[in-house]
Amino acid sequence: MKILLLNGSPNKNGQTIKLADMLTGKLDGEIKTVHTYDVSVAACTDCKGCFKRPGCAVEDDMQEIYDLIDWAELFLFASPLHFGTFSGKLMTVASRFQTYWAADYVRKDRAKPKNRRGSVNILTAGAKWNNMFLLAEGVSAFLLGAVQAEPLGSLYAAGTDRLAADENPEAVKQAEVIAASIKAFLCD
Ligand SMILES: Cc1cc2nc3c(=O)[nH]c(=O)nc-3n(C[C@H](O)[C@H](O)[C@H](O)COP(=O)(O)O)c2cc1C
Repeated sequence: MKILLLNGSPNKNGQTIKLADMLTGKLDGEIKTVHTYDVSVAACTDCKGCFKRPGCAVEDDMQEIYDLIDWAELFLFASPLHFGTFSGKLMTVASRFQTYWAADYVRKDRAKPKNRRGSVNILTAGAKWNNMFLLAEGVSAFLLGAVQAEPLGSLYAAGTDRLAADENPEAVKQAEVIAASIKAFLCD
């Protein structure tokens, strides 16, 4: 299984990575991690270069991330909630998915991926309230479409101000369920 973990947390040993590790520890395969706060990726400036040709005209670390996206079978979009949604840096990287949108709706030349692709959202939040992950879930629908992946579940740990993500009993249970869904989807 080829797993691409897009880490939207600025904290490499923080709650979000703890939660992601809980899931990846149950999966076999190769994991490549992009720490979005470490990469030099500019936000899409809507230059519309990708309306005319595939890829992205901006030469920065995103070029390597595009290769990783082509390689991956499982996408893990991991982020702390920052003001109710994915972190700013993860969204900066995701803005460069515009080339995929252009392939689908402007150039209309997008090929289907060679393999099935799945995706899981891994989200942490300091507080805890009803429906707190809804906004991020809505945004993630766009990310899934961009990378042509099917949703295989979401792993949440709310209330990290009081309880570490990897000690959250609901998250521990949910990680088991999602790992099983991933295996069924990618290994059947
Ligand atoms: C800029 C910023 C915005 C945040 N916004 C929210 C929020 O809207 N809701 C919430 O419950 N927690 C919020 N938090 C808390 C983080 O989501 C929480 O501490 C998270 O588990 C941190 O994960 P990390 O250790 O991987 O960075 C925010 C934290 C920061 C730094």
